[in-house]
Amino acid sequence: MEQQKRYGHFDDKNREYVITDPQTPWPWINYLGNEDFFSLISNTAGGYSFYKDAKFRRITRYRYNGVPMDSGGRYFYIVESLPQGGNSQPWSPGWKPCKTPLDFYECRHGMSYTRITGRKNQVEASVLFFVPLGKWAEVQRLTLTNQSQQVKHLKLFSFEEWCLWNAATDMENFQRNFSTGEVEVEIPNLGISTSNSKVEGSTIYHKTEYRERRNHYAFYHVNTPVQGFDTDRETFMGLYNGFDAPQAVVEGRPRNSHAHGWSPIASHYIEVELQPGEQKELIFLLGYVENEQEEKFSAPQVINKDKAHALIASLDTTEKVDQAFAELNAYWDSLLNIYNVRTRNDKLDRMVNIWNQYQCMVTFNFSRSASFFESGIGRGMGFRDSNQDLVGFVHQIPSRARQRIIDIASTQFPDGGCYHQYQPLTKRGNNDIGGGFNDDPCWLIFGTVAYLKETGDFSILDEQVPFDNQPGTEVSLFEHLRVSLNHVIENLGPHKLPLIGRADWNDCLNLNCFSWDPNESFQTTENKSEGSQAESLMIAGLFVVTAKEYVALCRHLADRGWHPGLADSSHDYQREADRMEKAVEDMVEAVKRDGWDGEWYLRAYDYFGRKIGSKECDEAKIFIESQGWCTMAEIGAEEGMVDKSLDAVKKYLECEHGIVLNNPAFTKYVYEYGEISSYPEGYKENAGIFCHNNPWVIIGETLAGRGNDAWSHYAKILPSYVEEKCQTLHKVEPYVNCQMVAGKDAARPGEGKNSWLTGTAAWMWLTVSQYILGVKPQYDGLEIDPCLPATAGDYTVSRHFREAEYTINVHPNGSQRGVKAIVLDGKPLEGTLVPYAPGKHTVEVTM
Ligand code: BGC
Ligand code: NOJ
Repeated sequence: MEQQKRYGHFDDKNREYVITDPQTPWPWINYLGNEDFFSLISNTAGGYSFYKDAKFRRITRYRYNGVPMDSGGRYFYIVESLPQGGNSQPWSPGWKPCKTPLDFYECRHGMSYTRITGRKNQVEASVLFFVPLGKWAEVQRLTLTNQSQQVKHLKLFSFEEWCLWNAATDMENFQRNFSTGEVEVEIPNLGISTSNSKVEGSTIYHKTEYRERRNHYAFYHVNTPVQGFDTDRETFMGLYNGFDAPQAVVEGRPRNSHAHGWSPIASHYIEVELQPGEQKELIFLLGYVENEQEEKFSAPQVINKDKAHALIASLDTTEKVDQAFAELNAYWDSLLNIYNVRTRNDKLDRMVNIWNQYQCMVTFNFSRSASFFESGIGRGMGFRDSNQDLVGFVHQIPSRARQRIIDIASTQFPDGGCYHQYQPLTKRGNNDIGGGFNDDPCWLIFGTVAYLKETGDFSILDEQVPFDNQPGTEVSLFEHLRVSLNHVIENLGPHKLPLIGRADWNDCLNLNCFSWDPNESFQTTENKSEGSQAESLMIAGLFVVTAKEYVALCRHLADRGWHPGLADSSHDYQREADRMEKAVEDMVEAVKRDGWDGEWYLRAYDYFGRKIGSKECDEAKIFIESQGWCTMAEIGAEEGMVDKSLDAVKKYLECEHGIVLNNPAFTKYVYEYGEISSYPEGYKENAGIFCHNNPWVIIGETLAGRGNDAWSHYAKILPSYVEEKCQTLHKVEPYVNCQMVAGKDAARPGEGKNSWLTGTAAWMWLTVSQYILGVKPQYDGLEIDPCLPATAGDYTVSRHFREAEYTINVHPNGSQRGVKAIVLDGKPLEGTLVPYAPGKHTVEVTM
């Protein structure tokens, strides 16, 4: 492997990743904000902010696919007035956009905050970026320090560029956009004010389209008088200059421009004098406000700024900002305290205790909407994606997971099918993409059961939830679960295996699509499922896993004498369990009969009933998804199918960087299969290492008791191991998982893409927390059943669970799986279930 340069390192004590070279192989980003107001921020301060919905409420502008990459963000420009006269070259603490070489650079990405520090000519500028809890604003706390023996005279320019709210039309409708832009400026010390109230500091308001239907505006504030400002981009930058060299900055002279149409921006100009050793702090605030329709204006054409003033007043001093930052850190302390492990392996501990859980929160918040690979305009919240995401997050804030489950279920149709996506702002199903992905319904069981086991809150099953958000159609959530599984068993194909519909988990296996038209999307084009024989083994396995959960749930409800729920009002959960158990048996039989290829599980049958993922095929003889799901479902375990399938994965799919999706890769487009073979070999769904599905196999390995194999598959895609091995090759952020790493057939095996927003986060979490370390919530307690590599040493998991706190000391003995004895608070237990009881408990586990 080529020499791998390093760009940073982990700082576990501070829960940070420290980037020491700004020229990372790709922008390495972080997320700010936990609910409602969010920002993306790269290691050079690029990125943007939005309120709730990255498409409909984009606050600042960003250009995807820019040249150079990652242009635009919240930028500070510093110009030093030189003692001999004239100005220094402008520089930025984050290196970009000026790219003036710095004497020191560091970016620390932490839990919902980022701190970027730059030093030039003995002036240090350090900016802390974060979104305070419960606030609709991004704080940018800038600390300037004079580390020299001379007085320093600095000219500081801030910069934000407004997006005209709808991120999609902002990029296309210029005949309109260039005439709508409007701002207001409130800088009392320059005598510019549009309101009577006494407000300190200097604020630029963005109010495009506020005169018509919008009830929201944004502002950019600094808590000090300024010596100038700009709000018109062209005046500030010069039409032919880039972000690196705005005319006003280069000349060290603001224009006090007022935007009318074109591209409104917000820039403050501040002259700062620093004595030797002196430090000054400025607080910038990028805020968002909504007003009631009747209270939009304080005078004709003048926006009502009361809420903006109140927001500013809550964050206008160092003390208030310190306090808000301390609250944010305490919040993360409490979230990360819920599941914590101490092993002898710091690479494992830092992923389990910090970064994997952090990524789970981020995927829960954003689904697949906004990252540096997801533009925030194409995709909202995915039905299957969000159900999976919440499984990685439910232990952190169960109440938010609860609401999410209800939002998701509300986009289901009465027959159990569902909208594939919904918009976070409206919570309505997305008609552009529609439904028909036949795996979707099962995921609702997957998500709901995880919630029930974590919380023991069965009342959620009785929540009245509509179909397709139509008032009057409400039924219990339990009924939604029932119709979900019915949707599978009512849509079986000729082999009694589930019909695939538009696609299953693999969005690119479009078996009913047959497209020769490059202008149509594989995702939304006609779905010729009428008369189709296309069946999915992935859904078969998923069905068995989730239907078994459903059966267990029904039996549990029956034992508890639970009443509400069943629509036929029989309330007979045992009968319902029996019915579904029968369906599971039938499915298992169908898989064994028509889904086994001799050495592995088939992947699917195509439209014409021909095998996919079989030794009989020319290419793509084996796929990962059905190996993962059918081994997780333990189908044919007694007959040796599970072990054979897992061995086949090792033999044909495993490579240095992880497990590829299929093998051999497709080398030509197969029009009966759709998007999958549209990708060049080794990328994405065509034999890429699609990290999301690696954990399925790993869990299959753990259930089969193969701890060594489980661990080696896991470590291959564990970011902390990849970080140590190949930062340059891997390219994307080394502290989180990415969706895809180029597979063995690719031009550059090991190169990562599509970081952050991937189901990999939740699945890695589930795998390590429940199956490897083996602490698994059940309805009545915690089941302890680790599956470890033979070399594993003692470790301790501390787990807050409902109203209890368990300290679980595990003593492995070289066997990969099998708990010999559990002692709970000094008393031996029968079996592996530690029964739930409020309070503090110590658990000793001998393997
Ligand atoms: C990608 C899939 C993704 C789908 C979403 C495809 O182009 O390859 O990974 O799920 O788009 O629409
Ligand atoms: C990404 C999508 O978000 C997810 O829903 C899908 O399952 C995978 N791609 C595989 O196609």
